[in-house]
Amino acid sequence: MSVSRDSVWQALSTVEDPDLKKPLTDLGMIDNLVVCDGHVSFALKLTTTACPLKDFIKDSAINAVKALDGVVSVSAEISKDTITLQAKTPDRASVPGIRNVIAVSSGKGGVGKSTVSVNLACSLAKQGARVGILDADIYGPNVALMMGLQGQKLKSATEQNKIIPPQNHGVKVISMAFLVKDNQPVVWRGPMLDKVIRQFLVDTAWTYDDDGAGNFVPGGDLDYLIIDLPPGTGDAQLTIIQATPVVGAIIVTTPQDVALLDSRKGLAMFQSGNIPILGIVENMSLYVCPSCGHEDAIFGVDGGRNAAAELNVPFLGQVPITPSIRLNADAGTPIVMAEPDSKAAAVFKELSHQVVAQVCAMGIEGVAVAEELSTGDEAPTCGIPAAAPHTHDHGHDHAGHKEHAGCC
Ligand SMILES: Nc1ncnc2c1ncn2[C@@H]1O[C@H](COP(=O)(O)OP(=O)(O)OP(=O)(O)O)[C@@H](O)[C@H]1O
Ligand SMILES: [Mg+2]
Repeated sequence: MSVSRDSVWQALSTVEDPDLKKPLTDLGMIDNLVVCDGHVSFALKLTTTACPLKDFIKDSAINAVKALDGVVSVSAEISKDTITLQAKTPDRASVPGIRNVIAVSSGKGGVGKSTVSVNLACSLAKQGARVGILDADIYGPNVALMMGLQGQKLKSATEQNKIIPPQNHGVKVISMAFLVKDNQPVVWRGPMLDKVIRQFLVDTAWTYDDDGAGNFVPGGDLDYLIIDLPPGTGDAQLTIIQATPVVGAIIVTTPQDVALLDSRKGLAMFQSGNIPILGIVENMSLYVCPSCGHEDAIFGVDGGRNAAAELNVPFLGQVPITPSIRLNADAGTPIVMAEPDSKAAAVFKELSHQVVAQVCAMGIEGVAVAEELSTGDEAPTCGIPAAAPHTHDHGHDHAGHKEHAGCC
């Protein structure tokens, strides 16, 4: 007797994502399931194509199916497409077309917020996510320069009359740099600030893509919008984060002892806005001499790591002082694109994996809440994309599998 599609689905539902602790089937990770005369094939959509556990997940899924009577062969491939879960922003209205907004902040200026923002964004885009950066540093915007978009101007082109964000390295960018001349100071006061940011957020055509022929066509929701905040933890920063549906924040710090002080202020600011901290990044850690390999802790070492431990938030990594980070940024190509095999690029890549995993886990909590609230046959509204193929090879709906209703 050959195996049925239902029993294959059932077997796959016993395999959990080790990080997210939910069945692959519930997470929408099983794609293109085909069952034919005992031959089974499917694709796995992971949260990131660079998932370190991808072989483990694939082997577990294959073994679960192989254990079924009537299975002759099983083939599974890792899909180039990834899944993005949408975290909950309980107190702030979400923006249509943007799934997860992540803020990058620091207690003081010049510690590497923009560097972290552009490298995080490019890492996420390289993994197949749809990514944008909102440069909220309207007084000193430099994301455009770091992304190779200096001198670009904004266009208004879609039917909805939205602004088309300039794009490079697979990332869409909106910044005050596209509106003012290089040497022109911006003098805007507090109350105008949240209006500008809100306008950047909602009037930008994040969901549109250039089709290569100069036309802008619908391309799908943005998975991640990275907000590069202006330095500091005062009113201006609070105004901005209150104007945006931030799901989590990253605090960038240098390793000096004062790092703890800065991070504590950052933590308090986000707590007051009810925003979870995704973690602390320690930038400008050890300097390794490119000629002789000698290591020098110019700004000390481990301040960010210690701050994370003391404040009980995740530590996201140590970025070494690397001259090519600055040189590549000045040339408009973040180091993860220019030197993907460098040590610094590896730190940013790992940082992006941690961010994805945390945001996904926050989306999972959203599912749990929605499932608790749902009654009877009512479908939960949880923000998870509709899971997997729900139609049998015979064309009818998968029995016993709950459809998600789509994004909140
Ligand atoms: N790890 C690093 N190694 C070498 N140079 C770095 C490193 N991190 C950042 N830089 C350089 O230091 C300068 C400041 O970094 P960046 O602009 O990212 O800081 P910032 O916190 O965004 O500053 P601001 O507060 O002015 O917005 C830039 O020239 C950047 O290229
Ligand atoms: Mg900056």
